[in-house]
Amino acid sequence: MTEIKATNITWHEGHVSRDEREKLLKQKGALIWMTGLSGSGKSTIAYTLEHALVQQGRLAYVLDGDNVRHGLNKNLGFSAEDRTENIRRIGEVGKLFVDAGIITITAFISPYLADRQIARETVGEGNFFEVFCDTPLSVCEERDPKGLYKKARAGEIKGFTGIDDPYEAPEKPEHVIDTSKLSPQEATVELCAMLTKAGKLSV
Ligand code: ADX
Repeated sequence: MTEIKATNITWHEGHVSRDEREKLLKQKGALIWMTGLSGSGKSTIAYTLEHALVQQGRLAYVLDGDNVRHGLNKNLGFSAEDRTENIRRIGEVGKLFVDAGIITITAFISPYLADRQIARETVGEGNFFEVFCDTPLSVCEERDPKGLYKKARAGEIKGFTGIDDPYEAPEKPEHVIDTSKLSPQEATVELCAMLTKAGKLSV
């Protein structure tokens, strides 16, 4: 549980509603939460989707694990506790982005079911689309784009997801992408269809 240290604080309502922002943007805020092993394709698909949406005249934005850990979350490592805090903060940032009317795509391993459930509750049903990049460990390890699996197997990185730290697959994700069958462009087509069906690309 997050320790609450903030006291004597007051919530202020603004004068502009989410609805007004969404009308301005001609879209509805949404959070596409990509989850999967390192090297499963989350970031590649997230950036391909962001590009496709922007080309269609939509405001989309990617929050990526490696990037966010360079700034906002640079004080967090990879212990279970730090990963939980990493995901908690992204759930909160995602909630703000969705309120801003932005189609937000997050690309974090987010290995623990309970943490993703908290993010889902934070962002709210109807706004949250969990997308499982279902790429087998053997394929991720074969790709090893950052050479990290090799290091983990050699014992140079401890607690690496899939090697000596768990990945808990989603039980009921909104969408599953089999990256061994689909290209990032094909995955993007599926995710755009999911957003259209959910009424996110019209107001
Ligand atoms: S998460 O588990 O807290 O969701 P996040 O997505 O932010 O992880 O960061 C994962 C990225 O950090 C990986 O793609 C990899 O580049 C790097 N990384 C470094 N150490 C580890 C580790 N022990 N386990 C997993 N990823 C790691």
